[in-house]
Amino acid sequence: MNRKNYPSFEVAISLGLTALFLPSCVYEKMEDAECPSGGTTLTYENFGQDFFAKYCNYCHGASVEDRQSAPPAYVFDTEAQVEKWAERIYIRAAGRNETMPPGPDDPPREERDKLAEWLVCTYGD
Ligand code: HEC
Repeated sequence: MNRKNYPSFEVAISLGLTALFLPSCVYEKMEDAECPSGGTTLTYENFGQDFFAKYCNYCHGASVEDRQSAPPAYVFDTEAQVEKWAERIYIRAAGRNETMPPGPDDPPREERDKLAEWLVCTYGD
């Protein structure tokens, strides 16, 4: 067997490494994010509540009839529920993370950045 007939091992390795670092494969965790040094002016009252009402709770709300398969444990109707799930919410919807909502009515990136800032400043370490 002549090895030259096969795709180079080195090429295969570098393609694999490239795939590992493609942004679409990477999600950001709340523990890796930082609250800006000046803190945040965002609160549940002036931001969080409306964000979840507009973008999440038509599937995740407790009294929704057609949850469109949103798991019953994941309800974001109150500040306490949001706190409970803050890390999962961050991974699915904050900043560059955009697997929630499943679409098509995604929040604009600016809103996701606000969500990231509010979550990390409020519930981060
Ligand atoms: C159109 C309905 C719908 C909307 C709107 C929606 N979700 Fe979901 N959500 C789902 C479904 C279906 C699942 C279960 C499948 C999955 O995890 O992808 C889920 C699961 C989740 C989970 C649990 C899984 C995990 O990774 O921990 C979280 C957290 C979550 N959603 C957050 C959100 C947030 C935050 C929003 C708003 C920005 C949102 N979802 C908007 C349907 C929805």
